[in-house]
Amino acid sequence: MTDQYAVVGNPIGHTKSPLIHGLFAQETQQDMAYTAIEGPLNPQEAFAGTVNAFRAAGGKGMNVTAPFKLKAFAMADERSERAELAGAANALRFEDGRIVAENFDGVGLVRDIEVNLNLPMSGKRVLVLGSGGAVRGALLPFLAARPAELVVANRDVCKAETLAAQVGAPGLLLACGYRDLEAMGCFDLVVNATSASLTGELPPVPPTVFSPVGTAYELVYGKGLTPFLRLARNAGVLGMADGVGMLVEQAAAAFEWWRGVRPRTRAIIDQLTVPLN
Ligand code: ATR
Repeated sequence: MTDQYAVVGNPIGHTKSPLIHGLFAQETQQDMAYTAIEGPLNPQEAFAGTVNAFRAAGGKGMNVTAPFKLKAFAMADERSERAELAGAANALRFEDGRIVAENFDGVGLVRDIEVNLNLPMSGKRVLVLGSGGAVRGALLPFLAARPAELVVANRDVCKAETLAAQVGAPGLLLACGYRDLEAMGCFDLVVNATSASLTGELPPVPPTVFSPVGTAYELVYGKGLTPFLRLARNAGVLGMADGVGMLVEQAAAAFEWWRGVRPRTRAIIDQLTVPLN
Protein backbone atom coordinates (compact mmCIF):
# COMPACT_ATOMS: atom_id res chain seq x y z
CA MET A 1 0.00 0.00 0.00
CA THR A 2 1.19 3.52 -0.79
CA ASP A 3 2.48 5.25 2.35
CA GLN A 4 0.81 8.58 3.14
CA TYR A 5 2.58 11.78 4.20
CA ALA A 6 1.39 15.40 4.33
CA VAL A 7 2.33 18.94 5.25
CA VAL A 8 -0.08 20.80 7.51
CA GLY A 9 -0.24 24.59 7.88
CA ASN A 10 -2.51 27.59 7.40
CA PRO A 11 -2.35 29.13 4.89
CA ILE A 12 -0.93 26.19 2.92
CA GLY A 13 -1.61 27.10 -0.72
CA HIS A 14 1.93 28.43 -1.23
CA THR A 15 3.70 25.29 0.01
CA LYS A 16 6.43 23.72 -2.13
CA SER A 17 6.66 20.60 0.06
CA PRO A 18 4.42 18.29 -2.05
CA LEU A 19 6.50 19.15 -5.13
CA ILE A 20 9.81 18.61 -3.30
CA HIS A 21 8.79 15.32 -1.65
CA GLY A 22 7.17 14.12 -4.87
CA LEU A 23 10.48 14.59 -6.69
CA PHE A 24 12.40 12.92 -3.82
CA ALA A 25 10.03 9.92 -3.95
CA GLN A 26 10.42 9.63 -7.71
CA GLU A 27 14.20 9.75 -7.54
CA THR A 28 14.51 7.23 -4.71
CA GLN A 29 11.63 5.06 -5.97
CA GLN A 30 9.59 5.18 -2.79
CA ASP A 31 5.95 4.11 -2.88
CA MET A 32 4.50 7.13 -1.11
CA ALA A 33 2.08 10.02 -1.56
CA TYR A 34 2.51 13.50 -0.10
CA THR A 35 -0.33 16.00 0.13
CA ALA A 36 -1.02 19.44 1.66
CA ILE A 37 -3.60 19.84 4.43
CA GLU A 38 -5.01 23.16 5.62
CA GLY A 39 -5.10 23.00 9.43
CA PRO A 40 -7.90 24.63 11.45
CA LEU A 41 -7.26 28.13 12.82
CA ASN A 42 -10.45 28.28 14.88
CA PRO A 43 -10.15 26.84 17.41
CA GLN A 44 -6.45 26.03 17.06
CA GLU A 45 -6.97 23.19 19.55
CA ALA A 46 -8.64 21.35 16.69
CA PHE A 47 -5.15 20.92 15.19
CA ALA A 48 -4.62 17.74 17.23
CA GLY A 49 -7.78 16.35 15.62
CA THR A 50 -6.36 17.01 12.15
CA VAL A 51 -3.15 15.14 12.98
CA ASN A 52 -4.98 12.26 14.64
CA ALA A 53 -7.40 11.87 11.72
CA PHE A 54 -4.41 11.63 9.36
CA ARG A 55 -2.76 9.03 11.58
CA ALA A 56 -5.98 7.06 11.91
CA ALA A 57 -6.23 6.92 8.11
CA GLY A 58 -2.78 5.28 8.03
CA GLY A 59 -0.56 8.39 7.71
CA LYS A 60 3.12 7.72 8.42
CA GLY A 61 4.41 11.23 9.00
CA MET A 62 3.81 14.96 8.58
CA ASN A 63 5.64 18.18 8.05
CA VAL A 64 4.30 21.05 10.11
CA THR A 65 4.48 24.70 9.20
CA ALA A 66 3.12 28.00 10.58
CA PRO A 67 1.26 28.45 12.82
CA PHE A 68 1.22 24.87 14.17
CA LYS A 69 4.86 24.08 15.00
CA LEU A 70 4.36 24.66 18.75
CA LYS A 71 1.13 22.65 18.86
CA ALA A 72 2.78 19.76 16.99
CA PHE A 73 5.63 19.81 19.51
CA ALA A 74 3.20 19.86 22.45
CA MET A 75 1.19 16.84 21.27
CA ALA A 76 4.23 14.59 20.65
CA ASP A 77 5.05 11.59 22.86
CA GLU A 78 8.77 11.82 22.15
CA ARG A 79 10.95 14.78 21.07
CA SER A 80 14.47 15.18 19.76
CA GLU A 81 16.91 17.46 21.59
CA ARG A 82 16.73 19.93 18.68
CA ALA A 83 12.95 20.03 18.87
CA GLU A 84 13.16 20.46 22.66
CA LEU A 85 15.36 23.53 22.38
CA ALA A 86 13.26 25.01 19.59
CA GLY A 87 10.08 24.22 21.54
CA ALA A 88 8.72 23.48 18.09
CA ALA A 89 8.43 20.61 15.62
CA ASN A 90 8.56 20.82 11.84
CA ALA A 91 8.35 17.08 11.27
CA LEU A 92 6.40 14.26 12.92
CA ARG A 93 6.73 10.52 12.56
CA PHE A 94 4.00 8.11 13.60
CA GLU A 95 5.27 4.78 14.87
CA ASP A 96 3.74 2.11 17.12
CA GLY A 97 0.92 4.42 18.14
CA ARG A 98 3.34 7.15 19.20
CA ILE A 99 4.11 10.60 17.80
CA VAL A 100 7.80 11.48 17.51
CA ALA A 101 8.71 15.16 16.98
CA GLU A 102 11.77 16.49 15.16
CA ASN A 103 12.97 19.87 14.00
CA PHE A 104 15.08 19.86 10.85
CA ASP A 105 15.05 23.61 10.13
CA GLY A 106 18.46 24.17 11.72
CA VAL A 107 20.19 21.14 10.21
CA GLY A 108 18.77 22.10 6.82
CA LEU A 109 20.19 25.59 7.17
CA VAL A 110 23.62 24.35 8.25
CA ARG A 111 23.77 21.80 5.44
CA ASP A 112 22.84 24.44 2.88
CA ILE A 113 25.60 26.73 4.15
CA GLU A 114 28.31 24.10 4.57
CA VAL A 115 27.62 21.74 1.68
CA ASN A 116 25.71 23.65 -1.00
CA LEU A 117 27.40 27.01 -0.50
CA ASN A 118 30.66 25.32 0.44
CA LEU A 119 31.20 27.52 3.51
CA PRO A 120 32.36 25.38 6.45
CA MET A 121 31.56 27.27 9.66
CA SER A 122 34.38 25.73 11.66
CA GLY A 123 36.61 28.47 13.09
CA LYS A 124 34.45 31.26 11.61
CA ARG A 125 32.75 34.24 13.24
CA VAL A 126 29.00 33.81 12.76
CA LEU A 127 26.27 36.35 13.48
CA VAL A 128 22.59 35.39 13.67
CA LEU A 129 19.91 38.09 13.74
CA GLY A 130 16.70 37.36 15.66
CA SER A 131 15.70 35.15 18.58
CA GLY A 132 12.39 33.68 17.49
CA GLY A 133 11.47 30.13 16.60
CA ALA A 134 13.74 30.04 13.56
CA VAL A 135 16.80 30.85 15.67
CA ARG A 136 15.84 28.49 18.49
CA GLY A 137 15.76 25.67 15.96
CA ALA A 138 19.12 26.62 14.47
CA LEU A 139 21.39 27.14 17.50
CA LEU A 140 22.33 23.54 18.31
CA PRO A 141 23.17 22.63 14.68
CA PHE A 142 25.15 25.89 14.41
CA LEU A 143 27.17 25.11 17.53
CA ALA A 144 27.77 21.57 16.28
CA ALA A 145 29.45 23.14 13.22
CA ARG A 146 32.09 24.56 15.62
CA PRO A 147 32.28 28.25 14.76
CA ALA A 148 34.96 30.30 16.55
CA GLU A 149 32.19 32.51 17.86
CA LEU A 150 28.41 32.57 17.50
CA VAL A 151 26.71 35.89 18.24
CA VAL A 152 22.93 36.19 18.46
CA ALA A 153 21.55 39.73 18.21
CA ASN A 154 17.96 40.71 18.84
CA ARG A 155 15.90 43.91 19.34
CA ASP A 156 14.63 42.43 22.56
CA VAL A 157 18.01 41.62 24.14
CA CYS A 158 16.44 39.71 27.04
CA LYS A 159 15.03 37.17 24.61
CA ALA A 160 18.48 36.59 23.08
CA GLU A 161 20.07 36.34 26.55
CA THR A 162 17.47 33.86 27.79
CA LEU A 163 18.02 31.71 24.72
CA ALA A 164 21.82 31.79 25.08
CA ALA A 165 21.54 30.87 28.76
CA GLN A 166 19.23 27.98 27.87
CA VAL A 167 21.74 26.61 25.35
CA GLY A 168 24.62 27.15 27.77
CA ALA A 169 27.76 27.47 25.66
CA PRO A 170 29.56 30.28 27.50
CA GLY A 171 32.52 31.83 25.72
CA LEU A 172 31.27 30.50 22.40
CA LEU A 173 27.70 31.75 22.23
CA LEU A 174 27.11 35.43 22.94
CA ALA A 175 23.82 37.36 23.08
CA CYS A 176 23.58 41.09 22.41
CA GLY A 177 21.53 43.98 21.05
CA TYR A 178 21.99 45.58 17.62
CA ARG A 179 23.85 48.59 19.01
CA ASP A 180 26.49 46.34 20.57
CA LEU A 181 27.34 45.03 17.11
CA GLU A 182 29.04 48.28 16.15
CA ALA A 183 32.00 47.41 18.39
CA MET A 184 32.26 43.78 17.29
CA GLY A 185 33.90 44.07 13.90
CA CYS A 186 32.91 42.01 10.89
CA PHE A 187 31.65 38.43 10.62
CA ASP A 188 32.35 35.69 8.08
CA LEU A 189 28.66 34.81 7.95
CA VAL A 190 25.61 36.94 8.81
CA VAL A 191 22.26 35.14 8.87
CA ASN A 192 19.03 37.12 8.93
CA ALA A 193 16.66 34.88 10.86
CA THR A 194 14.28 37.67 11.89
CA SER A 195 10.84 37.88 10.32
CA ALA A 196 11.57 41.48 9.23
CA SER A 197 11.91 40.60 5.53
CA LEU A 198 8.38 39.20 5.45
CA THR A 199 7.12 42.76 5.83
CA GLY A 200 9.88 44.42 3.82
CA GLU A 201 11.61 45.74 6.95
CA LEU A 202 15.28 45.90 7.78
CA PRO A 203 16.67 44.78 11.16
CA PRO A 204 18.73 47.67 12.59
CA VAL A 205 22.04 45.97 11.88
CA PRO A 206 25.11 48.19 11.34
CA PRO A 207 26.81 47.65 7.93
CA THR A 208 30.11 47.15 9.77
CA VAL A 209 29.12 43.53 10.54
CA PHE A 210 29.60 42.59 6.88
CA SER A 211 32.91 41.47 5.45
CA PRO A 212 33.34 41.86 1.67
CA VAL A 213 34.71 38.31 1.58
CA GLY A 214 31.96 37.03 3.87
CA THR A 215 28.42 35.82 3.19
CA ALA A 216 24.96 37.22 3.91
CA TYR A 217 22.20 34.61 4.24
CA GLU A 218 18.54 35.57 4.20
CA LEU A 219 16.24 32.90 5.64
CA VAL A 220 13.22 34.12 3.69
CA TYR A 221 13.25 32.77 0.14
CA GLY A 222 11.92 33.82 -3.21
CA LYS A 223 11.69 37.51 -2.34
CA GLY A 224 14.72 38.63 -4.36
CA LEU A 225 16.95 41.29 -2.84
CA THR A 226 15.39 41.95 0.56
CA PRO A 227 16.39 45.11 2.48
CA PHE A 228 18.87 42.94 4.42
CA LEU A 229 20.53 41.57 1.28
CA ARG A 230 20.55 45.05 -0.25
CA LEU A 231 22.36 46.38 2.82
CA ALA A 232 24.89 43.58 2.51
CA ARG A 233 25.42 44.25 -1.18
CA ASN A 234 25.91 47.96 -0.52
CA ALA A 235 28.51 47.00 2.10
CA GLY A 236 30.42 45.19 -0.66
CA VAL A 237 29.40 41.60 0.18
CA LEU A 238 29.62 39.33 -2.85
CA GLY A 239 28.37 36.09 -1.29
CA MET A 240 24.61 36.20 -0.86
CA ALA A 241 21.98 33.48 -0.53
CA ASP A 242 18.34 33.10 0.42
CA GLY A 243 16.62 30.22 2.20
CA VAL A 244 15.59 28.12 -0.78
CA GLY A 245 18.45 25.68 -0.13
CA MET A 246 17.46 25.43 3.52
CA LEU A 247 13.88 24.65 2.49
CA VAL A 248 14.97 21.75 0.30
CA GLU A 249 17.59 20.47 2.78
CA GLN A 250 15.19 20.37 5.74
CA ALA A 251 12.81 18.44 3.49
CA ALA A 252 15.60 16.00 2.56
CA ALA A 253 16.43 15.46 6.25
CA ALA A 254 12.77 14.69 7.06
CA PHE A 255 12.54 12.38 4.03
CA GLU A 256 15.60 10.42 5.17
CA TRP A 257 14.20 10.21 8.71
CA TRP A 258 10.95 8.78 7.38
CA ARG A 259 12.20 6.57 4.55
CA GLY A 260 15.80 5.70 5.47
CA VAL A 261 17.15 6.94 2.16
CA ARG A 262 18.73 10.30 1.42
CA PRO A 263 17.46 12.06 -1.74
CA ARG A 264 19.58 14.33 -3.92
CA THR A 265 18.83 18.03 -3.54
CA ARG A 266 20.94 20.02 -6.04
CA ALA A 267 18.62 19.85 -9.08
CA ILE A 268 15.55 20.72 -7.01
CA ILE A 269 17.27 23.70 -5.40
CA ASP A 270 18.22 24.93 -8.87
CA GLN A 271 14.67 24.42 -10.07
CA LEU A 272 13.18 26.45 -7.19
CA THR A 273 15.80 29.20 -7.08
CA VAL A 274 14.57 32.68 -7.96
CA PRO A 275 17.54 34.88 -8.95
CA LEU A 276 18.37 37.47 -6.30
CA ASN A 277 18.81 40.34 -8.74
P1 ATR B 1 10.03 33.00 13.68
O1 ATR B 1 9.35 31.79 14.21
O2 ATR B 1 9.92 33.15 12.18
O3 ATR B 1 11.44 33.11 14.14
P2 ATR B 1 9.03 34.77 15.69
O4 ATR B 1 9.19 33.69 16.69
O5 ATR B 1 7.79 35.59 15.68
O6 ATR B 1 9.19 34.23 14.22
O7 ATR B 1 10.31 35.74 15.84
C1 ATR B 1 10.49 36.84 15.02
C2 ATR B 1 11.89 37.39 15.23
O8 ATR B 1 12.11 38.45 14.28
C3 ATR B 1 12.14 38.00 16.60
O9 ATR B 1 13.47 37.79 16.96
C4 ATR B 1 11.87 39.50 16.36
O10 ATR B 1 12.56 40.36 17.24
P3 ATR B 1 11.96 40.73 18.71
O11 ATR B 1 12.07 39.47 19.51
O12 ATR B 1 12.90 41.77 19.22
O13 ATR B 1 10.57 41.17 18.46
C5 ATR B 1 12.45 39.64 14.97
N1 ATR B 1 11.93 40.77 14.21
C6 ATR B 1 10.72 40.91 13.64
N2 ATR B 1 10.62 42.08 12.98
C7 ATR B 1 11.83 42.72 13.11
C8 ATR B 1 12.38 43.95 12.67
N3 ATR B 1 11.66 44.78 11.92
N4 ATR B 1 13.64 44.25 13.01
C9 ATR B 1 14.38 43.39 13.78
N5 ATR B 1 13.92 42.21 14.23
C10 ATR B 1 12.66 41.86 13.91
